[in-house]
Amino acid sequence: MQEKYQPIGVFDSGYGGLTILKSIMEQLPQYDYIYLGDNARTPYGSRSFDVVYEYTRQAVMKLFSMGCPLIILACNTASAKALRTIQQNDLPQLDPLLRVLGVIRPSVEKIPLLTRTGHVGVLGTSGTVLSESYPLEIAKISGDHIIVTQEACPMWVPLVENDETCNPAADYFVQKNINNLFSRDPEIDTVILGCTHYPLLLPAINRFLPDHVTLLEQGPIVAERLGDYLVRHTELEQKCSKEGSRRFLTTESVQNFEPLASQFFGSKLIAEKIILQ
Ligand code: DGL
Repeated sequence: MQEKYQPIGVFDSGYGGLTILKSIMEQLPQYDYIYLGDNARTPYGSRSFDVVYEYTRQAVMKLFSMGCPLIILACNTASAKALRTIQQNDLPQLDPLLRVLGVIRPSVEKIPLLTRTGHVGVLGTSGTVLSESYPLEIAKISGDHIIVTQEACPMWVPLVENDETCNPAADYFVQKNINNLFSRDPEIDTVILGCTHYPLLLPAINRFLPDHVTLLEQGPIVAERLGDYLVRHTELEQKCSKEGSRRFLTTESVQNFEPLASQFFGSKLIAEKIILQ
C-alpha cells in the first residue's frame, strides 16, 4: 500500500512536453504525474547553456520539493543543455535515489534498428542542433557507422505556440526545413523529430517528408523506455505513488496556458500557476 504522494515529474520549457506526458500516461496510467511547463520563459531553444541549465535546475528543484522521486526532462533543449550537469553536479548533493532522465538517449537508442541506409536526419531547435547532442549520442551507440545531418527549425516552435500549425505559413517553413535537410543528404531514410513541439505539426510534416522515410516520434519511445527503466529500478518504482492522479503547473497565467495546453494534451486540463526562482 502506497502511503506518500510521490508523483513522476514531467518538465518542459512550455507546452511540448505534454505530447510526451500523453504517451507516458497511455502506457503507464497507474502512476501519479505532475507536469511543469515554464511557459513564462519559453522558448529555451535560442537560450545559452547557462540559462537553460539554471532554468531547468530551478524546475527540477521545485518538482523534487513537491515529492517527485523521478523527473523526465520532456524537452530536447533542456535534455541537451542541462541534463548532464544536473546529473553530475546537482543530484550527488541530494538524495541518492532521486533521478532525472532526458528524452534524447531513448530516441537515439532506436536509430540503429530503424535506418537501412545509415543516414539519419534530426529536426530540432537551434539550441538542440548547436549542442550536437544527437550526433554525439548516436556516435556513442553506433560509432561512425551512422551519418547524422541536422536541421534547425527556429520557426516551428513559434508556429506551434501561436496555434498557427494549419496554414500556408506553417507549410512554407516545414517544407523549407525538410527540403534543406534532404538537399544536404538525399540518402536519409530516418528522421528524428527532435523537439517535443513538433508532433503538433505532423500533418504538414507528413505532407512534405518523402514517403520512404521513417519518422521517429519521441512520445511513444520515451514512454516505452520509461516503463523498462521502472522495471529495472524496482526501488525507485516502489517509491512512485500510484493513484493515477495528474496535476498541471505553469509559470504563465492559467488563462493563457489552459487552451493551448489542452490541445497538446488532447483533452481539457485545469492548471495551477507557480513561480520558479
Ligand atoms: N519543447 C522544446 C524541445 O523539445 C522546444 C521549445 C523551446 O524552444 O523551448 O526542445
